[in-house]
Amino acid sequence: MTPAPTGKPKVLVIMGSVRAGRHCPALAAWVAGIGQAETGLDFELVDLAAWPLPMDDEPNIPATGLYMQPHTRKWSEKIAEADAFVFVSPQYNWGYPAVLKNAIDHCHREWHGKPLLIVTYGGHGGDKCAAQLRQVAEGLDMRLVPTMPALPLARGMILGAAITPDTDFREQIPQVRQGCRELAAMAPAP
Ligand SMILES: Cc1cc2nc3c(=O)[nH]c(=O)nc-3n(C[C@H](O)[C@H](O)[C@H](O)COP(=O)(O)O)c2cc1C
Repeated sequence: MTPAPTGKPKVLVIMGSVRAGRHCPALAAWVAGIGQAETGLDFELVDLAAWPLPMDDEPNIPATGLYMQPHTRKWSEKIAEADAFVFVSPQYNWGYPAVLKNAIDHCHREWHGKPLLIVTYGGHGGDKCAAQLRQVAEGLDMRLVPTMPALPLARGMILGAAITPDTDFREQIPQVRQGCRELAAMAPAP
């Protein structure tokens, strides 16, 4: 795996939501900040809104690695350069957002063997979303971090009230720290 320019293992924190008015950027940045402080690894945010990946323009299945479109090649390179991942995803209708599945499905081998920390949020912390992501990651031979932090959203937050992660999810900070430590332990040594 290619080391980051810092020489430290690179962790991509992929945001699961592109919705207007989403909470995802605030939560993903918060998780990345905790991860950076806790592990010293190189955490980088990836906003899928900046990665338009059409669902219908690749003639070959991703498992072949034969990508025809420049955007798919760029995405493949981005995923291939990473040493580990964090998915920060909301629960949508007992699952996870289609945009995240689409981004996952655009590659195949690039995910193999890499550690993944799953962080979810929703009315009950997004446990059903986490279970689905876990199954998909297992199918891609990713190495799952045992701790899966779950951030419970209050009703007001679901309806759009601003979130201050440090105070609203103070109780979950130890879980996030623990998950990041486990991720770092599974990442390749610098
Ligand atoms: C399409 C959609 C479906 C949702 N389904 C669920 C659900 O099944 N369970 C839940 O707890 N919250 C659900 N919610 C509420 C989300 O957890 C909440 O709106 C969250 O803030 C969404 O993340 P985002 O703001 O980053 O997009 C749903 C929200 C949307 C937009």
